[in-house]
Amino acid sequence: MQFFTSFGIISLTILSELPSALGAPTTTCKTPKPRSTPKHIPKASATRTKHTSSSTSAKVTITSATSNALISPIACPAPTVSLGGGGPFATTQGRMFNIQSQTQFFAGTNTWWLSQLQSNADVDTVFSQLALTQLKVTRVWGFSETNDASTHQNPNYFQVLNSTGQYFNCDPENGIGRLDYVVSAAEANGVKLVMPLLNNYGDLGGIPAYTAAFGCSSTSFYTDTQCQSAYQNYVNFIVNRYKVSPAIFSWELANEPRCSTCPTSVITNWASSISAYIKSLDPNHMVALGDEGWFSTAGIGDGSYAYSGYEGVDFVQNLAISTLDYGTFHCYPDQWGYNNTWPNEWIVQHNAVGKTAGKPVVFEEYGSTNTANHQLLMTPWQQTVLEDTNIAYDSFWQFGTQPLSINPFDNYAIYYDTTAGSDYQVLGYQHAAAMLAKSSVADQ
Ligand SMILES: *[C@@H]1O[C@H](CO)[C@@H](O)[C@H](O)[C@H]1NC(C)=O
Ligand SMILES: *[C@@H]1O[C@H](CO)[C@@H](O)[C@H](O)[C@H]1NC(C)=O
Repeated sequence: MQFFTSFGIISLTILSELPSALGAPTTTCKTPKPRSTPKHIPKASATRTKHTSSSTSAKVTITSATSNALISPIACPAPTVSLGGGGPFATTQGRMFNIQSQTQFFAGTNTWWLSQLQSNADVDTVFSQLALTQLKVTRVWGFSETNDASTHQNPNYFQVLNSTGQYFNCDPENGIGRLDYVVSAAEANGVKLVMPLLNNYGDLGGIPAYTAAFGCSSTSFYTDTQCQSAYQNYVNFIVNRYKVSPAIFSWELANEPRCSTCPTSVITNWASSISAYIKSLDPNHMVALGDEGWFSTAGIGDGSYAYSGYEGVDFVQNLAISTLDYGTFHCYPDQWGYNNTWPNEWIVQHNAVGKTAGKPVVFEEYGSTNTANHQLLMTPWQQTVLEDTNIAYDSFWQFGTQPLSINPFDNYAIYYDTTAGSDYQVLGYQHAAAMLAKSSVADQ
């Protein structure tokens, strides 16, 4: 998959040696195949100018498979932008969130590509538009891995994973300095960030980058000593770097973690241990799983794909984990083989589980590639959130704006537009205002 076209060559130093790969996992197939191909994060295409930079690298030692020590020193220099402003930390308050010292319903969006921008002006444009819209939270990828620094396909990468080790990219132009700027701009604009620390998919590296470097598989990743050691090193790096910032709304373990055909206990156990680990590093921020909200519970739904546990996720069990502050769920009916009214059921079902658990539940991604009908399709889902549930917030996939110096958009994008009746004015502006004005719905 190709996001962008040309990049400078980054030279980093070999700093550690890794032992060889571990074996493949055993899995059991217990559920039917999905009715449609799994969702992938949309591809993007753009051209950008060639960029060469000198690079700094960070020493990270991967421990051997027989060692228990997981944590290495954080070796990137401190951020050059100032961090730590922007008000109190976000917290849960019953089934809602307290942000900016107010317990409120609100709306948000997704802008995964913010951490791939190399222009500060672009980042500023996006945050000022989000703030104008009163979108309080946006989701941005807090990861970007490559297996080879000399051929990396994305503008910015934050670590290299290969057979000789794990190397953080401290470069201000195409490394962690870019994420530093996103966090500082979020603070300045009063917008909060949901930051996943891993991708299930290969977009920006993700689990496939760990499997390629360290020999685990997409299912053994969750229990493999070396892959978990490297992942936890990365979690430690990012969480420690930004834990002072109230602009972080929450840490997410991953974007859409799946362990297809695995027992759901694999991801539940992993989520318990990693969320507890993050809380030990940073007790001030919320932690969520970042999953699609698949059910695997008798009595919920009709047993079809989304309710079958096929992807190895059990929303009810995971919401019971004490170190996860809230639940997330996503919805792509046209990719999952459902019709366009089914999302209303899906929303109500997750809200009901949240009510039983007494935790906030977030409708974190929803969208359609049907560009002609974004408003027609998505407005009823937003109405269900508003009128029939106490879903704490919802965030559509995805925010778009033009022009930026790159184009990471796709047919899901709802482009910033203040024209009355436009998709953005209805699904963005009007919905955000309606969520802010919303009161709790009785008995939900
Ligand atoms: C791994 O990546 C580092 C950093 O880019 C590089 O110095 C090293 O040569 C790479 N190792 C291999 C085996 O390619
Ligand atoms: C849409 O799907 C739901 C659940 O699968 C079903 O109950 C409903 O009848 C369907 N609606 C239409 C219009 O087909």
